[in-house]
Amino acid sequence: MVSPSDMSGPGPGRIRQDTVYRAGVAGIRPTVPTDAAGLERAARRRMSRKAWAYIAGGAGEGRTMVNNREALDAVRLVPRVGVDRSRRDLSVTLPGGRYDNPVLLAPVGAGALVREDADLAVGRAAAATGTPYIISNQGSSPLEETVAAMRAVDPAARHWFQLYWSTDEQLVDHLIARAEASGASALVVTLDTTVLGWRPQDLNLGSLPFSRGQGIAQYLSDNRFLEIVRDRLAAGTAGGIGGVKVTPAAVASLLSIARHHPGRALRNLLSPEPRAAVETFLDIYSNPGLDWDLLATVTERTTLPVVFKGILDPRDALSAVEAGADAIVVSNHGGRQVDNAVASLDALREIRGAVGDAFPLLFDSGIRTGRDVAVALSCGADAVLLGRPHMYGLAAGGQRGVEEVIGNVLAELDLTTALT
Ligand code: FNR
Repeated sequence: MVSPSDMSGPGPGRIRQDTVYRAGVAGIRPTVPTDAAGLERAARRRMSRKAWAYIAGGAGEGRTMVNNREALDAVRLVPRVGVDRSRRDLSVTLPGGRYDNPVLLAPVGAGALVREDADLAVGRAAAATGTPYIISNQGSSPLEETVAAMRAVDPAARHWFQLYWSTDEQLVDHLIARAEASGASALVVTLDTTVLGWRPQDLNLGSLPFSRGQGIAQYLSDNRFLEIVRDRLAAGTAGGIGGVKVTPAAVASLLSIARHHPGRALRNLLSPEPRAAVETFLDIYSNPGLDWDLLATVTERTTLPVVFKGILDPRDALSAVEAGADAIVVSNHGGRQVDNAVASLDALREIRGAVGDAFPLLFDSGIRTGRDVAVALSCGADAVLLGRPHMYGLAAGGQRGVEEVIGNVLAELDLTTALT
């Protein structure tokens, strides 16, 4: 496996090339394609229609995803020669300390669409490659289990926790406390999903993973959340999936909900609690009333460094700094929220201008290759988040697929750095 950049060795690029070409001598090919388009095709072949719609899909007509790619592709690199580049240092200081590489795994919810143990497999791959994993609030395994899986691979593995700000303030505090207790290096508060964007691919299939109990493991493992569910049941305000026609799909959804709920599946099938939990989640997971005054309370509520994710306007970036952010993720959520939004890369340039050179900026939305990482760094990012590609690696090759995707991106980044 490609190890983090080793300044005294040949670097991750050469190591990865050597690994691939040596295995090739014995007729062994990489587990997943090394190019982005091939990876996507390989992943799609292994995914259900619903999984593909949710993971690859975007908001509206998909223009934001196109904008993200066009902006990244519009940057042409100028190779330079005649400079000693035998030692390449890609390390970076971010919340939580020093990191060998400027690449983290983005929080991706509802990975259970690909595999039930998605978060564990991705976490192990992250740990095996020395890559920090930003664990999603919409994860498919409880945070604590994902962290344990990572530490079983490398006791020093680092993770951040991503929070969606609930309408229940006690739940917000509970999730923050769990992030702290889990040893997270930072708390990432996602700001751009106070309501879910208009996503035709999912809408056309009538498919939302959460309504089948997928991607709500952080909630089902939270005492405060379960308390809210039971209070609502007792008060008769839990809502319910009443009125749904009894069809094979409805039965499959109920089975799925029962399976994802803690406790025995049979007991869950007979109990109203699992369905009430799904309804409660849908009602309270996000807060459309979230404003800067409320966000500013976060620094008093946690000892962790705070990262605000999902900022595109320089004015919002300045508000985030004022609210106490230790870093910002410039992101349009991979084009999943607002159609024809500004390309994340164009926003990055403006935000870098607004916050100055020293403020830590992370970037995502559209990163597919090591070249893209180099482009983002050249436009003002300190580090990037790798989103869909790691899910494609998972679909195409499991944990090993994720490791190879990370290794390939770091390798091309290293080689591009050496050549430019
Ligand atoms: C996401 N993203 C996301 N972000 C977040 O803060 N919390 C989350 O739970 C999720 N869930 C999620 C699910 C899926 C299937 C995708 C594709 C994305 C957004 C993610 O962190 C990141 O911003 C984007 O993936 C970046 O865009 P690209 O590079 O994947 O196109």
